[in-house]
Amino acid sequence: MALQVGGTSFGLFHRNSGLRIRAVASESATTSRGEENKVKLGGSEVKVTKLGIGAWAWGDTSYWNDFQWDDRKLKAAKEAFDASIDGGINFFDTAEVYGAGITGAICSETLLGRFIKERQNKDQVEVAVATKFAALPWRFGRGSVLSALKDSFSRLGLSSVDLYQLHWPGIWGNEGYIDGLGDAVEQGLVKAVGVSNYSEKRLRDAYDQLKKRGIPLASNQVNYSLIYRNPEDNGVKAACDELGITLIAYSPIAQGALTGKYTPVNPPTGPRGLIYTPEFLAKLQPLVSRIKEIGENYGKTPTQVVLNWLICQDNVVPIPGAKNAEQATEFIGALGWSLADRDVEELRSLASQIRPVIGFPVEKL
Ligand SMILES: NC(=O)c1ccc[n+]([C@@H]2O[C@H](COP(=O)([O-])OP(=O)(O)OC[C@H]3O[C@@H](n4cnc5c(N)ncnc54)[C@H](OP(=O)(O)O)[C@@H]3O)[C@@H](O)[C@H]2O)c1
Repeated sequence: MALQVGGTSFGLFHRNSGLRIRAVASESATTSRGEENKVKLGGSEVKVTKLGIGAWAWGDTSYWNDFQWDDRKLKAAKEAFDASIDGGINFFDTAEVYGAGITGAICSETLLGRFIKERQNKDQVEVAVATKFAALPWRFGRGSVLSALKDSFSRLGLSSVDLYQLHWPGIWGNEGYIDGLGDAVEQGLVKAVGVSNYSEKRLRDAYDQLKKRGIPLASNQVNYSLIYRNPEDNGVKAACDELGITLIAYSPIAQGALTGKYTPVNPPTGPRGLIYTPEFLAKLQPLVSRIKEIGENYGKTPTQVVLNWLICQDNVVPIPGAKNAEQATEFIGALGWSLADRDVEELRSLASQIRPVIGFPVEKL
């Protein structure tokens, strides 16, 4: 069966058919366009593309960018934003702590807001913005959520956002934070609310608390990739599916480790190098080689295969981080096709032989 999408022809087979897909199209920007490539975030009315773009690295000098931000990186980030929009991606994820916006330094929220405004001055673009509240220990009660949200608005240059998330569970004050999220919805400041790094138990409690006010908990953003499948083992994925909460997958390409770019002789620099060490990368190579081989059958890159693997889990929206237009364009090619079931399972089985890296400890708070 051939499907015409935006003037481009694809050889299309449903993944359950077990037949191989042949992506005839080039890395066309049109693959992410159209309603069939959009999903609702949980029980909310917010519709996003099946893949969003993570903006943590934009302006960040604490983890990314070798501790330096300059005009060249700024230009590349802007091009990543524009390439995403050109490719039909409408969903961007940021946070008040990305790039230390709280301290007034250049930050991801400011940059995202600027990119949106510059683009909207030229053409009508629809952008769904997700940002996050940092549950810092000195922040108490529901009021702190609304006050942080308003600060995010001022950095973003917006008067509302599509998704407001609790970035991680607080050491205390969590019920108040969830009340604050509900207040943000009721006051029309946000269209949907979610959490992040939430365990199954916390997720169910937050869901129940919001449900009493008639507000759906739209999403839980957690670390999820082919080599970090904790959400499958700790009940989070199953609870999301059961309750109709979208699982937003962060670090979906394992911070570059699953793309094939990093090898034992070429490990990533900076803090990433402490996680994805040459020893770990050596163990990863057989999996990366197989991902590459499988991708060749579909005319897809390893990056596109591992993102498609996540999308094939259903109810999962990956948000890979793009630092430049090439990376964003490659992500778009993860949409509009599906891995066959047997490839999905083979990759899971191969990946299960690799011990995952240690995740963000806040997942266990
Ligand atoms: N809620 C949370 O606690 C939390 C935690 C982490 C992340 N997040 C969110 O999730 C988003 C994505 O996660 P992440 O940034 O940690 O990891 P990721 O998306 O797995 O990896 C992104 C990095 O991979 C490299 N890369 C991107 N495209 C590539 C390509 N096509 N080929 C080769 N390398 C490529 C880039 O770094 P280089 O070019 O330098 O290699 C890029 O910065 C973040 O931006 C953020 O919005 C949320």
